[in-house]
This record gives sequence, C-alpha cells and structure tokens, in this order.
Amino acid sequence: MGRNNLKATFSFVICVSFLGSGLAIGGREAAGTTPGDNARLAVPYADVQRLLDEKCTSCHTGADAARGLRLDSWQALIAGSDHGEAVIPFDAVRSLLVELTTELVGGPHPAEVGGETLNDAEVALLREWIDEGAPSDTGEIPFADAQHLLYAANQSEAVISVIDMETNQVIRTVDLQQHGFQENASPHHIAVEPDGSHWYVSLITANRILKFDRDNNLVGEIDFVRPGLLALDSDGDNLYAARSMAAVRPPQEIGVIRRSDMTFEEVGIFLPRPHALAVRPGEGTVYTASLAVNQIASFNPQDEAVELYELGGDRTHTLVGFAVSPDGRWMVGTTELTGYVFVFDLDRTPALTPVDTLVVNAAPWHPVFTPDGRWVYVGNNRDNTVNVIDMDTRTLAKVIEGNGLAQPHGAAMSPDGRFAYISSRNLEMSEDQGRAGHMYTPRYDLGDNGRAGTVVVIDTDSQEIVKIIEIEGYGSGLGAAAPN
Ligand code: HEC
Repeated sequence: MGRNNLKATFSFVICVSFLGSGLAIGGREAAGTTPGDNARLAVPYADVQRLLDEKCTSCHTGADAARGLRLDSWQALIAGSDHGEAVIPFDAVRSLLVELTTELVGGPHPAEVGGETLNDAEVALLREWIDEGAPSDTGEIPFADAQHLLYAANQSEAVISVIDMETNQVIRTVDLQQHGFQENASPHHIAVEPDGSHWYVSLITANRILKFDRDNNLVGEIDFVRPGLLALDSDGDNLYAARSMAAVRPPQEIGVIRRSDMTFEEVGIFLPRPHALAVRPGEGTVYTASLAVNQIASFNPQDEAVELYELGGDRTHTLVGFAVSPDGRWMVGTTELTGYVFVFDLDRTPALTPVDTLVVNAAPWHPVFTPDGRWVYVGNNRDNTVNVIDMDTRTLAKVIEGNGLAQPHGAAMSPDGRFAYISSRNLEMSEDQGRAGHMYTPRYDLGDNGRAGTVVVIDTDSQEIVKIIEIEGYGSGLGAAAPN
C-alpha cells in the first residue's frame, strides 16, 4: 500500500500525538455496565425511593402520572416518561431528573407546578445515586444487557450519546473530556462492529480516531488528520476513514485501519477533499468521493488498486455521503450543492456511472438503506425534511416533515429494520443562512436550549416520526451495528 503524501502532514501528526496522549493518561475509566457491588454503594435505592415518595410521587404515580412518568418504583423511574429517559446511568449532570430539579427556568421543578423544591442534600443524594449507575436495591445497573445500541455524536460537546434501540432512550453518555480530550474535540462519525463488541469515533479537531469497547472503555486510538466519515468492512478487518468537510486542504488519502490491532496506513486516492465513504459488502471495495471536484475513487484492498472515475455535470455536486445496499448491488450518493441522489449499479461496468439521478430536497446528507435493501432514508440538511427513496422504482417516495428535524445530519437503522434514525444539529442559524425559524425547541427550558441536538425515530411501516430523542449539542454522525 502506498504512503503517498504522508510526509506533508507528518510533523503536525506528531505534535498532536504528544499532546493527546499526555492528556489521555489523566482520563478516568468510562462508565461500565457491570452490575454494582451492593455492599460498596454509598446510596441504597431505598433512600432514593423514600425521597421520591416524599416529594414527587403525589403527581408521578398511576395511570395519569404527569407526562406518563411514574416515580413509584425503580423499574418505573428507569422506564422514563412518554418522551424519554429521566435518568442516564453514570451521568447525573445530563439526567433530566437532576436538570429539572436544579435548572428549570421558572422552577426548579416541581416549584413551577406548586410542588416543593428539593434541598441541596436531596439533590446531592440523587446525583450520587445516578453517578453510581442508578442501581436497583439489588445492585442491578439499568440497560447493562442492552443488545442493540445506537451511538450519536454530539459534535459541539465532545459527547457521544448511547441509545437503546429497543426503548429508544438514551442509556449512557460517553464524555470525551473524561478521557482527556478538549470540549472542541468534535466527534463526527461512528462505526460499530457487526457483533457490537467495539465502536469507533472520528474526532475532527482532535485529529484522532478512537476505539471503544462495548462497555465504553477506550481501548485504542490513532492520530489521523481531520477524520470525517468512517466505514467498516463487516466481512474483514478493515476500517476506513475519509476527511472532514472542515478540512480545506486535507491529505488526498484515506485511512486503512486494521481494527484488530489499530495499525494503519494512508492510501493515496488522488482526488482532493475525500469525504463520502462506503464499503461494498462481500468483495470489500471501498468508495470515496471529492467535495471539490466531480470525481469518485475506488480502492480494492485485495490488489490495492485505486481507480478514479469522472462524474458528469457542469456544476460541482459536492458528494456528501455514500451507502451501499446490504446485498452489495446498489450504491447511492448524495450531493450537497446540486441536491441529487445518484444511484449506481455496482454490478455494471463501469460501475460508477449513475443509472439514475433523483432530484430531492435540499442538501441530502447521510443516506442509509433498510436491511432488506428496499428503502433509503436520508435527511435533508437545508430543508429539515427526510427523503425516503423507493429502491424498487428508484424514485423519491416520500418527504417526511415534522418537529425534531433541524438541519438533519446522520442516519442509521435498527438491525430489524423497524426504525430509521435521523440526527439533527439544531444549531442556531441567522436569517441570511436561510435556516432560522427551523429550530427545534426542547420540551423544557434549562437555560441552554441552543445546545440540544435531536435524533428522530421514524417507524419504517408508517414512515412517520414516532419519537424525538433529545441529545446534547450538534447531533452529527450516527452509528449502529449494520446495515450501514
Ligand atoms: C405538583 C405535581 C408534581 C410534583 C410534586 C412533581 N412533579 Fe414532576 N412533573 C409534573 C408535571 C405537571 C410535569 C410535566 C411538566 C410540564 O408539562 O411542563 C412533570 C415533569 C417531570 C419530569 C419530566 C418528564 C418528561 O420526560 O417530560 C421529571 C423528570 C419530573 N417531573 C421529576 C419530578 C421529580 C424528581 C419530582 C420530585 C422532586 C417531581 N417531578 C415532582 C408534576 C409534578
């Protein structure tokens, strides 16, 4: 494999490497999922329940509990409300229960509805219990056995939200600052092992790609200049990395990372600003495309051949994302500036001449296929819509609108194909950016509402939004084990 252009970036990489590893040493161990040892717990759940019974359950019990949130048992508290989780185990600061009872504007809750506010000692008790993992009275940690996890990058806050795809609620957060990274580390995209054992995240500003295990322990990392999208070959050992949009003149190379030992090479692909990225299942060819010129490159890991393809058009398309159908036959490519979804038939020669060009809503971003290959979901970054493409007819079948979509960005699918997930940045935009008035307003005013990204859950039967999951600031890339 070539190491073209590596020299140009060498000194920069070294410098970042020293800085990052020095800081990482101080990082504390991430929140695990091992059931707690009851004997060591400082706060028994019985103390928490006693407090809730005293100050909360008058309104939060039974069939007409406020917002459907029952606080009369550990199970009910962990199940959350009709809208989402009340606690995120190991993360009191970002748990709604604590946020509402300490920071609600016009509160703190429940003062605004006539209830009695918690005193400092009571808040401290709740915080401590949540930071210990919100264990039950037998030491059970919520969602320790959750099977199907969705990872959402919060690009402006160096936080990854982990969502359980059964209950569609946030069950963990991974705070990169606790691993020694800066608040501006900019986590961008996530790839997950097919068996869920590990996940990888690109950090644009920190120039890193990290590997975490299922319990969110940091187990590997590499230096990589301005990483953007990630794609893994589920039949082999390779993880691929392209470059962030934020990089104006990044190396004309993609990263080829061996996941088992995190050794890597950079492969020259001879086009500027490689961004879109996808792997063809089975044979393992990887495709990338330029943000700057109408070119696509393929890299075949078997013979290490790189091929360049010209894509027609008299304007620059700026290809943003690629996705390949689970059977490996079709690839779609989304374009920012022309607003197209290109459809490629990878069985044809030449494969990278589109067989269809669909005109869709503005700035289609990350696409994802349903597991049966029938539909493609993609959020439109400048229209606050989601386009659903029918791959049988290769037409735009539906435009989904609704609350929660605010500069849609990432896309993922539950493994059973029941839910499609679209993240939104929800950044405040000025009028001249044409996106003002499209903000999502979180359901509670905690004084920091400019910093709330979302993940909308779309039921793939009805093709409607069925839930809005509130995450942290600037929801960007999503990752789940297959099919994306
Ligand atoms: C007087 C009735 C009352 C009391 C007492 C009360 N709540 Fe609430 N709670 C409400 C109402 C009403 C809402 C919905 C708020 C709204 O619609 O703005 C709510 C909402 C919540 C939510 C958000 C649910 C969601 O997902 O939207 C949480 C968490 C919560 N309460 C926790 C507590 C805790 C903890 C206590 C005890 C310290 C408490 N509440 C005491 C009435 C009450």
